[in-house]
Amino acid sequence: MPDFLWQKPGTHVDERIMRFMAGADVELDRHLFLYDIRASRVHSAGLARIGVLSEAEANAICAELDRLALGFQDGTFVLDQRYEDGHSAIEAWLTERLGEVGKKVHTGRSRNDQVLVASRLLLRDSLATLVDLCEQTAAACLEQAHACGDTPMPGYTHLQRAVVSSVATWFAAFAESFVDNGELALSSARWIDANPLGTAAGFGVNLPLDRAYATSELGFSRIQLNPIYAQNSRGKFELQALTAVAQALLDVRRYAWDLSLFTTAEFGFVSLPDAFTTGSSIMPNKRNPDLVELLRASYPTVQGAMTELQSLLSLPSGYHRDLQNTKGPLIRALVHGLDAMALMPDLVRGTQFVAERLEAATEPSMHATDRAIEMTASGVPFREAYRRVREEYDDLAARSAADSIAARVSPGAPGDLQLAILQGRLEQLRQAQKEAGL
Ligand code: ARG
Repeated sequence: MPDFLWQKPGTHVDERIMRFMAGADVELDRHLFLYDIRASRVHSAGLARIGVLSEAEANAICAELDRLALGFQDGTFVLDQRYEDGHSAIEAWLTERLGEVGKKVHTGRSRNDQVLVASRLLLRDSLATLVDLCEQTAAACLEQAHACGDTPMPGYTHLQRAVVSSVATWFAAFAESFVDNGELALSSARWIDANPLGTAAGFGVNLPLDRAYATSELGFSRIQLNPIYAQNSRGKFELQALTAVAQALLDVRRYAWDLSLFTTAEFGFVSLPDAFTTGSSIMPNKRNPDLVELLRASYPTVQGAMTELQSLLSLPSGYHRDLQNTKGPLIRALVHGLDAMALMPDLVRGTQFVAERLEAATEPSMHATDRAIEMTASGVPFREAYRRVREEYDDLAARSAADSIAARVSPGAPGDLQLAILQGRLEQLRQAQKEAGL
């Protein structure tokens, strides 16, 4: 038997060329393998529905595919360089075990739609995980916002002390952003929730494939109808999934940036549990926020992957082997991004603010804006009030942070955080996720 599915008997395949073309493809296919097996199962059952395979043949193929999946999971089957890719490994497994029947599995499909459907399933699962993690992070932020009550905290603009804020406001900001990030992940999942299986190499096949059956069996909400579009969407859908990851990581980065400032001796606002810090190999006195720094550094991995995809996608219509190179950046960024996000709920729960340090950093000048706005109640135009406060600074020292927070009642502000609204949005997101089956 030739080494490659497509190899002409008696022809030579140049090893160096093959190695270059394969790259890390087969290792990357490990991330797609179970999805590929699942889609192969559905494809075989679909072929039986239209009489291309007998029931018995389809059953035999499905049983062998189940064995392959188990073997892969328990490590008795290793997907490695013996195979050109995961797709070839599936066919080789079936052919070795079922002979002629195994050779029928590829009827009416192409490796192009195999890789498409497997990556689409991976994207959908990854985005579902991202939604979960955004929800957990938002929930942890809300718990913290409730627990911190009205503990005052300096509010900064330009990193300069500006107005009195509160710890709860800081946590609520991240709660709201992670609910929004979860919504973006969910809507991205819905956007890409379309089944490309059955489009073959990009032009369909001369068989009445039961695409509706495959679509519902694989849990997709719609068929990706046009076969050329199915190919053209490879990389584009991946890019959208990474955009959702990147948006969440922008907030991870900002949270991490804040903590890296707040944990310095200069600020001293936050202390982190030991598990989140490391020691120095030379300076016995040090505790370093390495984890926070590496979380801050996780965005560039995803951004880099997005840049790679964007550059790769400059292609004419249809399948091109260039598209294989979307796999590496995609998987690297998904794994890294989700690993980073997975640490967030615990990091949020472990973020302990130090009330005395926050209080010490809240100084009288931070009441100036409140004071100017108060003056306008007696009819003084704001610009005049602003001038008077700036020039006179009257009684700011006598004012309390607690009063400032209590009086800041514009909706969403420290005196009226409306955490119940955020809680409601979080619950709506969870409900929408459930309804989307994700
Ligand atoms: N490894 C290939 C990829 O990721 C699989 C599809 C191969 N198709 C082909 N026509 N050579 O794109």
